[in-house]
Amino acid sequence: MFVNFPEPPVWQQSSFRLLTTGLFEDIHKVLQAKGQFTVLTDNEPLCHSVLSEMAPLLEGDAAKFKSALKNCDDNFTTRIPDAYGTSYFDRLWTNGDRKKRYFMQFHKL
Ligand SMILES: C[S@@+](CC[C@H](N)C(=O)[O-])C[C@H]1O[C@@H](n2cnc3c(N)ncnc32)[C@H](O)[C@@H]1O
Repeated sequence: MFVNFPEPPVWQQSSFRLLTTGLFEDIHKVLQAKGQFTVLTDNEPLCHSVLSEMAPLLEGDAAKFKSALKNCDDNFTTRIPDAYGTSYFDRLWTNGDRKKRYFMQFHKL
């Protein structure tokens, strides 16, 4: 499952946020065994928001996901896999010379 350039929340505790713990629990339910989900964004604060919402699902014996990034303590990286591809918004931003990206990937446990 891929979430490319999700709209960042207008403010951190907004009730209109898309990427919440509840959504990640739903993603866990629909992913196949060993399935992955990926978030690509140009917005570093969004990475911290995602990781904060993911935290209950990444911790302890009942963890539901594990970061797929190796040797990456932050659980996000600016190194995007070569074969990742592109999207409408990616091309729009690249054409506007906005090229920094942040990548997160999680395995279903
Ligand atoms: C920056 S665009 C990226 C579009 C596309 N993923 C791409 O990479 O080209 C953000 C998208 O998120 C959608 N969006 C915003 N809030 C949403 C929500 N609560 N639920 C579903 N989609 C939402 C918007 O309609 C918009 O299409």
